[in-house]
Amino acid sequence: MKGIILAGGAGSRLHPVTRGVSKHLLTIYDKPLIYYPIATLMLAGISEILLICTPEHSQSYKSLLGDGRQWGISISYAVQADPNGLAEAFLIGRDFIDGQPCALALGDNIFYGAGLSGQLQELARLEHGAAVLAYQVSDPQRFGIVELDADGKPLSLEEKPEKPRSNWAIPGLYFYGPDVVQVAEQVTPSARGELEITCVNETYFKRGDLRVSRLQRGTTWLDAGTFDSMLEASHFVQTVEKRQGLKVACLEEVAWRRGLITDAEMRERADEFKNEYRDYLLGLLDTRS
Ligand code: DAU
Repeated sequence: MKGIILAGGAGSRLHPVTRGVSKHLLTIYDKPLIYYPIATLMLAGISEILLICTPEHSQSYKSLLGDGRQWGISISYAVQADPNGLAEAFLIGRDFIDGQPCALALGDNIFYGAGLSGQLQELARLEHGAAVLAYQVSDPQRFGIVELDADGKPLSLEEKPEKPRSNWAIPGLYFYGPDVVQVAEQVTPSARGELEITCVNETYFKRGDLRVSRLQRGTTWLDAGTFDSMLEASHFVQTVEKRQGLKVACLEEVAWRRGLITDAEMRERADEFKNEYRDYLLGLLDTRS
């Protein structure tokens, strides 16, 4: 399966900061926000990634991430001229998708938890239809929502409803079969003028082809779209990293553990740093020797 990361948007909730820099290049504790969705896709077993960003920030992403070879993956780039909505990712990414199954990860979503990689890898094996995640939240009005029956099957979908029918939010990580481009082509702009991802999901739902995979309560899902949620996410990552001595979303580590880079390449990556990030990477090699 291929993967698209959507890292455009106006970033207006974070003005004035995002007048000069893309939201997804801002820091979540010790790494740029964009590292987290890249790690999520890598943990799902996805190695071919298209990053969609705004035209003015494209060069910054290329400087930071390059072609992905350093992590044993491939990263290519496309731009979204205006924030026309999440479903536009499939229209922009049409050539990249090339008739194959494709995942979409939102650039500001962070996932962490035991058993998560296995769950995502299973979803990334999807060959037709669609699969979304569901996560219990206390503020469902802020998200796409799915109502579930007793067996966990979807009953209805809504985008940011005033009166939510459930508190199961749909996080920003979606899996689709090869027809997602055709489905996205049929979506028309919503009342707020966006091509909504919920409309794409609804098409599959109406066909009886939408699977919902619930994230366990021990899994953490955060969307870092406001000053407060960015700070909270930073504190979360800091707490986990300090307590365990293990980093969250360290791309070199994910690549190495997945066997995408060798020990020698890991050493080369480590030598590119002159801070504790280097010590961390070299320390991982020691744990295996
Ligand atoms: O975080 C999960 C939620 O993400 C879902 O539950 C909702 O169903 C979904 O609509 C979306 O809601 P948000 O209000 O959080 O979406 P937001 O506009 O903040 O955009 C999410 C990310 O996608 C953000 O990093 C910016 C980027 N983006 C957004 C739009 C609208 C783009 O790159 N292009 C766009 O056109």
